[in-house]
Parts: sequence; C-alpha cells; structure tokens
Amino acid sequence: MANIRILVVEDESLVGRDIQNMLRSLGYSIAGLVSTGEQAIQKSRELGPDLVLMDIVLKGEVDGISAADTIWESLGIPVVYLTAYTDETTLQRAKMTEPFGYLLKPFEERELQTTIEMALYKSKMDKKLKERDRWLTTILYSIGDGIIATDTADRVAFMNPLAERLTGWDEGEALHKPLAEVFKAEADGKKFPAGRSGTAGSSEIADSVLSSQSILHAKSGLSLPVEGSLSPIRDEKGSSMGGVLVFRDITMRKQTEADLEAGLDKLRRALDATVQAMGLTIEMRDPYTAGHQRRVSKLSCAIAQEMGISPNQIDGLRMAGDIHDLGKIYIPAEILSKPGQLTDIEFTIIKTHPQVGFDILKAIDFPWPVAQMVLQHHEWINGSGYPGGLKGDEILYEARILGVADVVEAMSSHRPYRPSYGIDRALEEIQSRSGQLYEPAIVEACLRLFRDKGFALDK
Ligand SMILES: [Fe+2]
Ligand SMILES: [Fe+2]
Repeated sequence: MANIRILVVEDESLVGRDIQNMLRSLGYSIAGLVSTGEQAIQKSRELGPDLVLMDIVLKGEVDGISAADTIWESLGIPVVYLTAYTDETTLQRAKMTEPFGYLLKPFEERELQTTIEMALYKSKMDKKLKERDRWLTTILYSIGDGIIATDTADRVAFMNPLAERLTGWDEGEALHKPLAEVFKAEADGKKFPAGRSGTAGSSEIADSVLSSQSILHAKSGLSLPVEGSLSPIRDEKGSSMGGVLVFRDITMRKQTEADLEAGLDKLRRALDATVQAMGLTIEMRDPYTAGHQRRVSKLSCAIAQEMGISPNQIDGLRMAGDIHDLGKIYIPAEILSKPGQLTDIEFTIIKTHPQVGFDILKAIDFPWPVAQMVLQHHEWINGSGYPGGLKGDEILYEARILGVADVVEAMSSHRPYRPSYGIDRALEEIQSRSGQLYEPAIVEACLRLFRDKGFALDK
C-alpha cells in the first residue's frame, strides 16, 4: 500500500494531522496536506496523487465539491469526501460530482481504509468503462457503415454520423422517434423495417436483410440504393434490448456494375457481329449454300431449346452454327458450285472443311467450345463420320445437334448437283438412322418441332 499516494485537503490543522497519521499507520503515503480548494487542484495537478481526501467545507473561493469536480473531470483522480455534517443541498451537490465515497467525521481507521480501497477500485473500474465506451464510440463513429440502434419499442436510441448523412436526420432530432419514420426504405418492393415477429407481448425485432435491391428514401427527398441488415440486440439473459440496423450506400457499386454490364453487352454484340460477318464471307463465295449456316443455326437452337438445354449453351451453339462451314473458304469455288456428282478427290477436299474451320477458330477464346463444335459437326455417333471418326460421347453434344440440323437443312434445300428432297424425306432420313448416325434424343426433339410444333425452316 506504500505506493498509494494520498493528498489530504483539510483546513483544520489538527484534524489534518490526525488523518495523516492514520493514513501512514494504514501503510499509505502522503502526497501532501493542503487547506484550500485552489491548492487542492494545484497540488493534484503537480503531484498526481492516486486519491484525494477532501473536506467539503473549506475556506476560500472554491469549496470541496467544486474542487473535487475539477480534479475528477480534468485529472481523473478519485476524490473521497470528508464531512462533519450533511445537509440535503450539500449532499445533492456532492452526488452530482460522481463521488467515490463519503466519510463522516469522526471516523475510525478501518472505516477510512475501507472507503479508500472501495474508491480506488471504483475509479479503476470507472476509467476502464469510460475507456471502453470511448473506444466503442470511436469505432461506431469511424466505421464505414450507417448504424442506427433502437430501444425495445423500436425508437431510435443512437445514430452514427454516416447514418445521419445517409438518412438526412440529425441524431438529436431522430432520438426517440420510431425507426420506420427515420429510416424509410423499401426492400424487394416491401416496406422496411417490416415490423416484429412473434405473438403480441413476446414480440421482438426480427432478423431481416436489406438486399442490394433496397432503396432508402432520405429526409431530403433523395432516394439511394442501400444494403444492410437489422438484428435484435439481446442482453446476457437473452432478453431483447432493441435492435441495430447496419446499412451502406451502394450507389457507386451499382454504377460500376451497370457500366461493366454495358461494356460486356457491347463486347457480346461486337462478337456476334464479327461471327456473323465471318459467316457471310463464306456464303458470298458459295451462293448455293447461302443462308444454310443461318438456318442450321436456328434449327440447332430450336432443338436445344426443345431439349431444355441452358440458354448459355444455346448462345454458343448459335455462334458455332453461324460459322460451322467456315472452312469451305479453303475449297475452290468450282468444287463448291459444281453441278453433278463430285469425284472422290473433290469429296476428299470438301471433307477438309471442318478441320480448316477449326484451325481458323482455335485461337479465338470464345466463352464456349465453338472451334470444337465446328470441328465435330460431321462426326456420327457410330464413328463413321469425319474428320476424327469419333463415337457417341466423344462428340460434343452441341456438335451432335449441329450434325442433325445440318442434315435436315441440307436435304431440304436445293444443291448445285440435285434438287431439294423436301423436309419430309429429310425427317425420314434422321428417323431411320437414329441411334446409328444421330443421337436419338436429338432426333426426337427435331421431329417434335416439325411434326407437332409447326417449326419451319426459313427460305
Ligand atoms: Fe459442314
Ligand atoms: Fe453445313
């Protein structure tokens, strides 16, 4: 206890000496003995004692209560009052200064020691609490989210500066107002906060989320996109103490997302246009198959849709369909438009087109395996196709769809060396060789389209 230094403020020198003796015999150190309020403040500042024992009634301008107030508030040193009598007014004033203890004169050594130890403990706890409070307040004030805390009746109990800025309400004017009046928002088309859960009497704030589609209507009349959540606050026994709403302005993020989406959309359209231009290039050299790729593409997509294939996969199929015969650019125009039967050599040359198409496309990083689809569009499931002689699942599903659509379109169109067979014969062909050359499920979907759903190829 020797390291606990106590300043004694007592204007009766005899009493002052008695107290000093008591303190010493209890093992405390004496930081000093002064007799006025002014000296008490000055010495506390100079010596920084651990505790001040303060007589309430002092001579001079500053009495013990005023001095104690200054010493605790500005120096954080706890003060224990000493008094010979207590009238109601003095007691009330003393209470206002957060006293750490009273000692009624005369007092005994044991009483003095207990009061001093209690005061030291209380001031230590008080400082810790204040420090924690300051720490939490700093966090709440500097955090990048708006925070509104409510009491058990959903009335505003606290707002941080960001919440004030976003809602347009000052904390002072918002205090004790219903949360729904201060924070007016819509989440997914519904009012937020929605209200309480549970039955009457046991109700409490429900955990609820402000999705990124939420809009906050600020006091200023402005609306802004926000997201966040509302959660109940519970004490250690689990009883509701109110709620805390945490939210943030997502205007910037929404803008960035919209810009990105617009950029992506532009890129997608540029890619589509480029692929279509490639498709047209080959059709210009080969007027007999003009429109073939576009029609195959449309039929392939219709089959895929009929089969419930994902829209993203269908996008890739459309692109591959539009350029599946791109490799024909490498084949002499006279072979492509030759009337009459092709020789074996000419047919061998024609059969290079999937590989050539693949070689042209393979370096392009499409979001789908477009080059592979082009490479495999003449492969048949029994392995009799070209160029790889692939079988069944070795062939991309999209390529199997392209293969069926390609046969149906080619057979029902005019070619330099033959007239059109008509759609019925084309459908009979795929039906009769379903499971042999063509995937049965694809054939069935294609037949359903033409026979049951009125699908027709464009002219
Ligand atoms: Fe082809
Ligand atoms: Fe084709």
